[in-house]
Amino acid sequence: MSSKIAIIGTGYVGLTTGACFAHLGHDVTCADIDSSKVDMLNRGEIPILEPGLDKIVKEGVDSGRLKFVLGSENAVTDCEFAFLCVPTPQGEDDSADLSYIQAAAREIGPLLPPESVVVNKSTVPVGSTKVVERHLGRSDVHVISNPEFLREGSAVQDFLHPDRVVIGCSNTTAAVKAQSLYLGVKAPIMVTDPASAETIKYASNAFLATKISYVNAIAAVCEAVGANVSDVTLGMGYDRRIGDMFLNPGPGWGGSCFPKDTRAMIKIAENAGYHFHLLNGVVQVNEEQFDRMVDKVENALGGQVDGATVASWGLTFKANTDDLRESPAIEILNRLAAKGAKIRAYDPGCKKQLENIEVVADPYEAVDGADVLCVLTEWDDFKWYDMEEVGGRMGHRRVVDGRNLLDGHTLKSKGFTYDGVGRR
Ligand code: UDX
Repeated sequence: MSSKIAIIGTGYVGLTTGACFAHLGHDVTCADIDSSKVDMLNRGEIPILEPGLDKIVKEGVDSGRLKFVLGSENAVTDCEFAFLCVPTPQGEDDSADLSYIQAAAREIGPLLPPESVVVNKSTVPVGSTKVVERHLGRSDVHVISNPEFLREGSAVQDFLHPDRVVIGCSNTTAAVKAQSLYLGVKAPIMVTDPASAETIKYASNAFLATKISYVNAIAAVCEAVGANVSDVTLGMGYDRRIGDMFLNPGPGWGGSCFPKDTRAMIKIAENAGYHFHLLNGVVQVNEEQFDRMVDKVENALGGQVDGATVASWGLTFKANTDDLRESPAIEILNRLAAKGAKIRAYDPGCKKQLENIEVVADPYEAVDGADVLCVLTEWDDFKWYDMEEVGGRMGHRRVVDGRNLLDGHTLKSKGFTYDGVGRR
């Protein structure tokens, strides 16, 4: 059964949501405030690197089920559902900034058809459904929460094959209508109240960040006791209660979600009277992980960072994306640059030049004359480069492997020094 859907905001979430709903057979109109972006999208071109998204957007545009318009007023007048997919950035006091959501609600409120449903897709604090209702100013329009669980780099896959769909709603009719949107999706659909749905999103992201900080802390213990974190996490992961996903130690977590959502979760709890000690610790471990990576590079350089040439494979916050927002790699490289290092970096997802960092288009050019090579993003390509060629081009054969991607034993046999995370 096809529904008329309006998507407000065509960022990572809105574009993926709109294209996937069109793929499921719905009639989708996406609105943005940027006319050049609207024109690009109507040509079937997309502004982000997201595997499979270009294909599914083109499919939608060619079928006529996916359209892009300038301004939400051109998308909502005949819609049954209006999805709010606008940014909810971290505010000054760590709480989520709802100004974009409120502005969007005020704009579409007077234009929505009676009995239409407004859907909060953006990650919003507990209680935001009521905030949207207030700004819409419509008693004949229902507001529901339908949080997204999309990972960058696998957003299309995560939308069409989710572990679950969560609907937070206090109106049964609206909940039933919203469930019908997901008829083509084989996954459990749970309906709960709005506050619980909003909490599921934050609690899930905060838990995933906790899991990563935990394994990064275990990696530090492994280094201290001479254990190998790869074997430790393998042994842990066999336990189905722990699971082997999100158990890879690294330079710390980043991106446009974890840093924002963990701080917002702490703030939401604080405002509700609970001091979230555990999550404060998770954020602190993550900050310390950046320091630990800088220390590893400093040790590899024999303490001499000033004037050294540091090569990095990796700039994006994670593999299979072009997103540099809150990237641990950039945070770490900037700290090394502040200590006087000259930074040269290669990343398959990054072509633009950055402050303090010379970005090159070839992994071997990145290591020319380098005193140390850091691996800071988990791109699979980095495992397969010719390390003999790399060694021949470097000034010193030193590797700090922030993602445990390379084989330390083989590198040592080729005359490299090697330091990983939680393993020597
Ligand atoms: C996250 C959540 O996974 C997703 O469900 C939510 O909707 C949005 O936020 P995303 O931010 O795209 O998705 O990235 P994710 O894959 O979760 O990785 C976050 C960070 O953790 C990255 O910096 C990644 O490199 C790091 N990470 C991830 C690890 O260091 N180790 C791991 O095992 C997994």
